[in-house]
Amino acid sequence: MLIVSSLAYAAQVQIAISTDHTDMVLATNKANQLMFMYYGTKVGCPQQFEQFQSYRRSDYSTEPLAYPARGGRFFNQPALAVKYSDGDANTELTYSSHETKNISSDVKQTTVLLSDTKTSLEVQLVYTAYLKEDVIMAHAVITNKGKKDITLENYASSAINLKAGSYLLTHYYGSWAREMQVEHELLTHGIKTIENKMGVRTTHTENPSFMLSLDNSSLDENHGEVIAGALAWSGNYKLQFQMDETDRLSVICGINDYASAYTLKKGATFSTPEMIWTFTTSGAGQASRNLHDWARRHYIYSKGHLAYTLLNSWEGAYFDFNTKTLTDMIDDAAAMGLEMFVLDDGWFGNEYPRNSSRAGLGDWQTNTKKIPEGIAYLADYAHKKGIKFGIWIEPEMVNPSSNLAHKHPEWIVKSSGREITTTRNQWLLDLTRPEVQDFVFSVFDETMKKGEGKIDYIKWDCNRHVESFGSTWLTEQSRFFVDYTLGLYSVMKRIREKYPNTIIQSCSSGGGRVDFGALEYFDEVWTSDNTEALSRVFIQYGTNMIYPAATTGSHVSAVPNHQTNNITPLKFRFDLASTGRLGMELQPANMTKEERTFAAKAIQSYKQLRHLVQDGDLYRLVSPYDGNHYALMYVSKDKKEAMVAAFCIHYQGRTKTPKIRLHGLDPQMKYSIEEINNEKPSFWGNGKTFSGAWLIGQGINPQLVKLYDSGIWHLKAQE
Ligand code: GLA
Repeated sequence: MLIVSSLAYAAQVQIAISTDHTDMVLATNKANQLMFMYYGTKVGCPQQFEQFQSYRRSDYSTEPLAYPARGGRFFNQPALAVKYSDGDANTELTYSSHETKNISSDVKQTTVLLSDTKTSLEVQLVYTAYLKEDVIMAHAVITNKGKKDITLENYASSAINLKAGSYLLTHYYGSWAREMQVEHELLTHGIKTIENKMGVRTTHTENPSFMLSLDNSSLDENHGEVIAGALAWSGNYKLQFQMDETDRLSVICGINDYASAYTLKKGATFSTPEMIWTFTTSGAGQASRNLHDWARRHYIYSKGHLAYTLLNSWEGAYFDFNTKTLTDMIDDAAAMGLEMFVLDDGWFGNEYPRNSSRAGLGDWQTNTKKIPEGIAYLADYAHKKGIKFGIWIEPEMVNPSSNLAHKHPEWIVKSSGREITTTRNQWLLDLTRPEVQDFVFSVFDETMKKGEGKIDYIKWDCNRHVESFGSTWLTEQSRFFVDYTLGLYSVMKRIREKYPNTIIQSCSSGGGRVDFGALEYFDEVWTSDNTEALSRVFIQYGTNMIYPAATTGSHVSAVPNHQTNNITPLKFRFDLASTGRLGMELQPANMTKEERTFAAKAIQSYKQLRHLVQDGDLYRLVSPYDGNHYALMYVSKDKKEAMVAAFCIHYQGRTKTPKIRLHGLDPQMKYSIEEINNEKPSFWGNGKTFSGAWLIGQGINPQLVKLYDSGIWHLKAQE
């Protein structure tokens, strides 16, 4: 039993994990346990923690362990819980060694080795510090060096410990077609958990990400201490916030332990997913910018190329099309200046044609009635029109009405002896199984081959979650949830080796797979099936708090909107979609001549500005939750160019114009302002020049007073 002696830590070892503006400090106490001492602004030499005194009772081991394990004197929420072969369920980790190495000039990795006092269990805590972005990525590597198998009952990625006067948690709840709604709550004593247990399609109801504002009762965009966190995992997750009796907050994040006890064979290692942390003293806006910069520069698959504008066939044609429908859409897309056409669901299945969601999934042969000329013909047609070609697949799924379901019933996720439930008329394939992994890879590969080298983009969908979990392949059913996600990642790795340049979208009934785990392999996400612009204000505002606009697909669709019935003006729809990866998702043949002319112009304008949206710094200017308007801006890294977008989302009285103060500009520079997509400019300053200082202090007051008035302004620094 470890006895923590009184008062002073008398730390022997202090470890600083530092970025340009932050320090995270770990240190050993007298009992050689690794403690989480600090996360915040730079504090200088970590040795200052040598004599630190917490004045907590020393015989209660509630001191902040860096990776709290169940057992010994520790009784709060653990990051690690292990059951050994002799039935012992205690683990007491002590420090063994650590090392720091340079991964590159601005990325450093520190690995700390811990070991259990009784068994041969080892845990490496790996912290990768991205100096410029102030991001620290943390995960644990658990190794069973003993002679017998052990069971991991809980195996989180990372734990941090904070001490502040108050903790405001901002998190993202929702549902299908209403993802990433922003909710704030001041944490109280006890445990708050954000989790998902649906196995796949895990991010509709919550997202594995959050912000914590310290000593602030509201989320401030520009001031105050904020920690943001996100887990890079596409399976079940659990984020726990436990405030104890001394008002310390312990945050533990990782894979959800729900039905997931994992046997670690002797000699085996389990590596947990990465948890991403950032800290700033400059409010939520800077926390988002840190994450965005880190993601774009270091982590997400898509790095450095601008997204193409596109037309997707789904809301325009659904399952009802033939070659002519599609070539007409390609003609229309090209004529409006779009750069890609994406053929969505409905192109496959012959014996069980995919004419509705009821049949065909699993049978990935081109439907010869709908497209007798084949996929290569369509891809070639698009290329000849000067645009790229993409296609939809949903390779993890099977309809009961399909040849695949009849041929391979053993491939379907099911609990032996129980009914298999359908969702959207479909079953899930068991990706824990190697043959299923091969099959899913082959669906992608064979689809690419159908295009004869002319498929530029794949929309990868996933339209159900796990129910009655179970696998006829696994001997240990509690590995199902984890091995499914690992199976998915292993397929994605193979795909990326063979198809490094294909753009791949992660779609899952809209935003059901929006996480950094997916974005390591996918270029972008389909933010939501709700394409209605007013709903999208809230969905995109929330999503882009964590995930950069360069990754979030944002389409203009028809009115009345198919999900909400709402009717919004085309300009409002275009202006809002232009704050993400712009696309269209409607039947262009149903547009009027005037609408097409407007669309062509708006697409052209977006092409001039998209480098700001996709590569620039996001500043949220007015929250849609605060009143009648939503406004945001993107500023180029050199501050010489910016795009401002503003939207009236409630009627509030015709005499009230918003005052929108800009951010992120250089006060010394002079900027010209030009409104785009508008015949009648809504701001009196259109075409004039203002100093950055004026725009920051005074701001703009466009006449956006009627519901769905909107504006986009291009700011350019004048020499
Ligand atoms: C899901 C997607 C949609 C569309 C349909 C096709 O709902 O989110 O965008 O691709 O499937 O069935």
